[in-house]
Amino acid sequence: MINVIAVICAYLIGSIPSGLWIGKIFYKTDIREFGSGNLGATNTFRVLGKKAGMVVTIMDILKGTVATILPIFPFFSDTIVHPLILGAIAAVGHMFPIFAGFRGGKAVATSGGVLLGYSWPFFIILIIGFFISLKLTKIVSLSSMVVSVIAVIYSIIYWLLTGDYALFILVLILATFIFYRHKSNIKRIKEGTEPKVKWL
Ligand code: G3P
Repeated sequence: MINVIAVICAYLIGSIPSGLWIGKIFYKTDIREFGSGNLGATNTFRVLGKKAGMVVTIMDILKGTVATILPIFPFFSDTIVHPLILGAIAAVGHMFPIFAGFRGGKAVATSGGVLLGYSWPFFIILIIGFFISLKLTKIVSLSSMVVSVIAVIYSIIYWLLTGDYALFILVLILATFIFYRHKSNIKRIKEGTEPKVKWL
């Protein structure tokens, strides 16, 4: 029973639509009606500005982290569901949130949060990779996909060195989700119409 409760909680945590709620409560704006239409941190920066963007980034990362570390809370200590599976379920919640008509985001920040909960040095490497890519390309979506590829490569090296393949499987699943959810961005990148950030 505790395993079912843990899975449901992970999904509900991932489903918290930070961008939608921050936008509606403080700015009377549904960010899905503007910019890229995505319910994520990048579109929050674009539509509502830096302050709201930072808050939503942190909230979306924390959703993945909290779901991944659920088993350390005494109530969930008996769950046998792997922390990475709980994290992946939170990413699914972010993409298909029950609290926002199942129209969610692309799960980049939430996936990052999963990795932060599992291995913070891995998370730091990905953040550095993300900003190097962003500095070079000025395109957030492209940098999200670049960092997904870096994560897959890192997890393969980790598997070869330690024999632990759970991280590789999880990262491969998250990277597949992320690429699939960036279909429209990939099309715009090919057409040369994907927006670039101006502040870097
Ligand atoms: O994290 C999502 C980002 O990679 C792309 O967002 O709004 O530009 O489609 P957006």
